[in-house]
Amino acid sequence: MAEIESSRKPHAIMISFHLQGHIIPFVNLAIKLASKGVTVTFVHLEFIHHQIIKSQYDSTQVDFFSEARNSGLDIHYTTISDGFPVEFDRSRNLDQYGKSFLLDFPTLVDEFVGKILHSHSSSSYNYFLVADTLCVWTAKIARKYHIVNVSFWTEPALVFSLYYHLDLLRKNGHVPANGLQENINYIPGIQSINTKDFMSYLQGPESTIIHTIIFIGFEEVKSADFIICNTVQELEAEAVLALKENQPFYAIGPICPTDFSTNTVPRSLLSESDCTEWLKTKSPGSVLYVSFGSLAKTDEHVILEIAEGLFLSEVNFLWVLRPGIVSYDDDDEILTVGFKNRIKDQGLIVPWCNQNLVLSNPAIGGFLTHCGWNSILESIWWRVPMICYPLFTDQITNRKLVVDDWKIGINLCDGLSISREEVAEKIKILMGGGKSNGIKEEMNRAREIMQTALNGSSERNFDQFLKDLTAKFLKK
Ligand SMILES: *[C@@H]1O[C@H](CO)[C@@H](O)[C@H](O)[C@H]1NC(C)=O
Ligand SMILES: *[C@@H]1O[C@H](CO)[C@@H](O)[C@H](O)[C@H]1NC(C)=O
Repeated sequence: MAEIESSRKPHAIMISFHLQGHIIPFVNLAIKLASKGVTVTFVHLEFIHHQIIKSQYDSTQVDFFSEARNSGLDIHYTTISDGFPVEFDRSRNLDQYGKSFLLDFPTLVDEFVGKILHSHSSSSYNYFLVADTLCVWTAKIARKYHIVNVSFWTEPALVFSLYYHLDLLRKNGHVPANGLQENINYIPGIQSINTKDFMSYLQGPESTIIHTIIFIGFEEVKSADFIICNTVQELEAEAVLALKENQPFYAIGPICPTDFSTNTVPRSLLSESDCTEWLKTKSPGSVLYVSFGSLAKTDEHVILEIAEGLFLSEVNFLWVLRPGIVSYDDDDEILTVGFKNRIKDQGLIVPWCNQNLVLSNPAIGGFLTHCGWNSILESIWWRVPMICYPLFTDQITNRKLVVDDWKIGINLCDGLSISREEVAEKIKILMGGGKSNGIKEEMNRAREIMQTALNGSSERNFDQFLKDLTAKFLKK
């Protein structure tokens, strides 16, 4: 390991982006940096801090990194206000919240960073900012205080490339895609992609506050000193190579604890049900795990067709049916008591669970997933083939990687609409071996690549990043 030597210790200021899928790799990155001898100040938004505490069985641990620190890592933990009361309903007031995130939050970050930089111990450190690519405040702060900035991208390089080349896509009339289905091949590092596989934010002409945040983020990332990406170089070789031509870009993924499951830092926004006892009653590889992640929404029709499809398939299933997946009202029961009585012991339905714990269970034989990037990385690690039902954002594009490029999963729907008969058929194909045999081999291959990278290219790239970072301090 390349430990850093210098009279001033490198000190990362990390203010996390407030979505579950971003928090997980960001926490892992903090631990990784600290394990390499970097001092870290890790900051959650106050409401996230409270939500994580609420979700824990043991809520006495309010300094989330105390265990990590006891094991010798130099990580300080604190929180910052986003300008709203903790109990403010951010998802219901997304527009108001997004605007404030864009316009007012940077001032709060400015004050916060200013305080750290002017603290009495500041002369012992070389500070740098590590922020999610979607954090729109970084450039302003970095320029004001002249600090080195690192942009962390938590999704695949393919998705990064498409956003990065937005101007080119617009110039060619492919964004917004507007229902177009055309193969394009002019994005550096992307051999071919159909416009239908673009992220949802490139599909329509509509422009929400989320569009604005993403587009600004990708304007600003072009001035970032370093970009680190939670992907594996060998899995996205051409895309990564092409991005490196423009800026210092490092594939360091999957950023995770060494065995994927050890985890000393609370990070779940929802309470996790323990499914171990139920899984114990099922034979190896017999259970389909179903989850659409922490954020995506869909309509009731989709949930009902999937429910009936699961029933028809006669395959065992463990279904994470997150409250609020259909509406904003957490208490809405989508599935009737009648359905639950009908499935008896074929299925277990829970509001949320520890996904790594479930995927690592030998009873699990398949994963019906929304194609969130963390889910895909975890599925590869535990060698669980996927059935893909992407809902929005990068999930649409991630599906292409899983099904078309890596061939480690199949589509839930080949057409535009979902039907219970097709759901049942696809589940039987994936879980029944047979036609899906090739998938298992490809999955083993992908896992092999990932495992090798953990102690190979990703580790080397991480060390190179730290070396280049240190060189940058000397130049300043
Ligand atoms: C990063 O820092 C450089 C100066 O080193 C600055 O010009 C740039 O705007 C900053 N970019 C971001 C995204 O913070
Ligand atoms: C990683 O590679 C190094 C050098 O090849 C080796 O000494 C070490 O045991 C490996 N670690 C793991 C976790 O495989």
